[in-house]
Amino acid sequence: MRRKLIAANWKMCKTPDLAREFVAAFLPLVKDHPRDDIALCPSYVCLPAVVEALRDTQIGVGGQNMFWEKEGAYTGEISAAMLRAVGCSHVIIGHSERRQYFGETDDTVNRKLKVALAAGLQPIVCVGEVLEEREAGLTEQVLERQCNIAFSEISGVEAVPLIVAYEPVWAIGTGKTATPQMAADAHEVIRAQAAKAFGEETAQAMRILYGGSVKPENANALMSKMEIDGALVGGASLDPKSFSAIVHY
Ligand code: 13P
Repeated sequence: MRRKLIAANWKMCKTPDLAREFVAAFLPLVKDHPRDDIALCPSYVCLPAVVEALRDTQIGVGGQNMFWEKEGAYTGEISAAMLRAVGCSHVIIGHSERRQYFGETDDTVNRKLKVALAAGLQPIVCVGEVLEEREAGLTEQVLERQCNIAFSEISGVEAVPLIVAYEPVWAIGTGKTATPQMAADAHEVIRAQAAKAFGEETAQAMRILYGGSVKPENANALMSKMEIDGALVGGASLDPKSFSAIVHY
């Protein structure tokens, strides 16, 4: 049995004060709920506040991106070691918004993934098709390409901490959710690619989250699928009540 992970992606929302307020309201709502892993991924400037507020809890903290170089003249970028130094356990890599607005490619995802794993972070690599690709029947092909390139030159042992999030781009922030069956089918494609790259054992243990308009109302149906090992939640993770309702699916 894979332990589920319910992760919040706050994107470019919340200041440190608002992040602390969230945690203060959220912790009592989930304190007797050890069933699943939980992680919060706030903006960089909120990371220290969130790490501090979550001290003495089991809740992880993740960055939303990182650069693959160690340090140097890369204005505006942040390294894996910097994320570790402020107390991050996780990092999101290759979110579709990074691919869409900031030029991320399958290749940059692979470079970042290798460095994140080497730094001891648990990477959450995002993959998913856009609407035109789904309508053209290309979903499987797109996922295979994204995974193949992202997973290249990484061994089964190195890949153990890897988490993948299937986030169909047409479901992000749109209120449209993949049906549990659509998500489960996509997850099988991703797991098959992981098995090719990392071997069956690592692939079977790897968690594959679903992301895209996850809400308290649909969380149970999604999480009931064997193939869905958790959720990466955007909009509905900004409010402590709605995110805790998802945690309690
Ligand atoms: P929404 O939950 O707002 O659709 O966002 C999903 C997402 O992009 C999580 O990374």
